Amino acid sequence: MKFIKKLLILIVLIVVACGAWVWSGAYNIGADAPHWALTKKVISVLRDRSIATRADEVKVPDNLDDPALLAEGAAHYHEMCTGCHLAPGMGDTEIRQGLYPKPPNLTHFAPDPAEAFWIIKHGIKMTAMPAWGKTHDDQKIWAMVAYLQKQPHMSVERYRQLYAAGDAAEAGEHDHAGPAHASTGSSAAAAATAATQVPVPAHADTSAVPASPAGSASAPAPAGSAGA
Ligand code: HEC
Repeated sequence: MKFIKKLLILIVLIVVACGAWVWSGAYNIGADAPHWALTKKVISVLRDRSIATRADEVKVPDNLDDPALLAEGAAHYHEMCTGCHLAPGMGDTEIRQGLYPKPPNLTHFAPDPAEAFWIIKHGIKMTAMPAWGKTHDDQKIWAMVAYLQKQPHMSVERYRQLYAAGDAAEAGEHDHAGPAHASTGSSAAAAATAATQVPVPAHADTSAVPASPAGSASAPAPAGSAGA
């Protein structure tokens, strides 16, 4: 009985001390003050286990190689993700350099499809990674997952062709408003195929450089300086 009483008092003291520490403002919340190695380790295990457990239930579709899906994914990625995750031929951005944790450079590796789907859909708490599932359906998210599988080592030209094809397919879809969804896939496929048949045009430099959606991002490096 006496022991339990002492234990309870100890617990209360610890809770009060923690509360006092939180209230004191001693903790540096700045994104430029890195975690201790131990804190970092705990957070990364917590994140990895949480994602792995949930990604186990995600069923990966078998059409991730579909050219139309790739083109669509490239267009979404180009529009929404490059400021943080970069793209072929693109230099580092100011937003990415300032973030903590720093968004991984997704031109360097292809994330596991099931995990990538889960992460893109739900986001990651207390990082800058948003939950895109609030505004995008599963099909669009799978399109981005499909694109991410091919992005490492992709040439700048191929990247431009892909997202241009994706944009064109989407524009076409809007032109033919109405119950046109059934044809979306084939028109995007046609656009993607057409794009890949076009030899790298001499006016390549007039097509958009991978622009960052983040207004504060620095200008992308010119093609050819990728990986610098
Ligand atoms: C504002 C910055 C930001 C934007 C925009 C953003 N992300 Fe992220 N993303 C992050 C951060 C930060 C992480 C890493 C979080 C961590 O370390 O736990 C991340 C992680 C990821 C991962 C996990 C990579 C791995 O390590 O396996 C994927 C996949 C991903 N993002 C895809 C996307 C896609 C696709 C988009 C666009 C639809 C996007 N992100 C937009 C910040 C961003």
